[in-house]
Amino acid sequence: MKNNHNHIYICGIGPGHPDYIAPIVYKKVENADILIGGSRHLEIFSDYKKNCFVFTGSLSALKDKMESLQNKTIVVLVSGDTGFYSLRRYIQSALPDAAIDLIPGLSSYQYLYAKVGLGYENALKASLHGKELDFLQAVETYESVFLLTDKKQNWKWIAEQLVNAGYGDYNYHIGIHLSYPDEKIISITAKEALQLDEDYDLSCVIIERNK
Ligand SMILES: C[S@@+](CC[C@H](N)C(=O)[O-])C[C@H]1O[C@@H](n2cnc3c(N)ncnc32)[C@H](O)[C@@H]1O
Repeated sequence: MKNNHNHIYICGIGPGHPDYIAPIVYKKVENADILIGGSRHLEIFSDYKKNCFVFTGSLSALKDKMESLQNKTIVVLVSGDTGFYSLRRYIQSALPDAAIDLIPGLSSYQYLYAKVGLGYENALKASLHGKELDFLQAVETYESVFLLTDKKQNWKWIAEQLVNAGYGDYNYHIGIHLSYPDEKIISITAKEALQLDEDYDLSCVIIERNK
């Protein structure tokens, strides 16, 4: 792989609201030749009138785009933090010779734990976003289990697994559209969550072990 002399900044932009984005990210965007990110992420920086590449989920298109650039300052915007299930891992392995700096952001787990008044020292933080995980094994081992979700393995599906495994009375915190004006944070039991009718988009959960 040849080095295209690009400098890549992968910036965590927090849960989505501009107030939760670190000032250094705005500086990196200001100095960027091109911004790369999902449309939700690029929208936040539309006033900067930067050249943008919309990441639609195709990793090969992303790699092709980055390899086609020469001597550019590239800012890749990722949700939450760079170190927690972001595009960082793919970009670092796909472009091993590239100069890459990571700018951390506020993860959705940090945001949701703060909002429900809990700490995460004894928590398992994991992802069901496009991957499988036997999280039921962890609910008795850890004080709490935080899970990223996707459309299929969404907060209701997780609640169903909990109820079926006998954990229906565990406290269950659901964070939907965190930091956005339509944010919803619902703290109920897993059993009660089965009666809810809320959005499955952009959500994450905390399962709290019974004391
Ligand atoms: C690819 S992962 C990115 C995780 C991110 N790096 C982090 O630190 O939070 C995408 C998942 O993060 C969660 N997520 C990101 N932003 C969110 C928000 N504003 N509200 C609720 N969940 C969010 C959702 O579970 C979503 O499916």
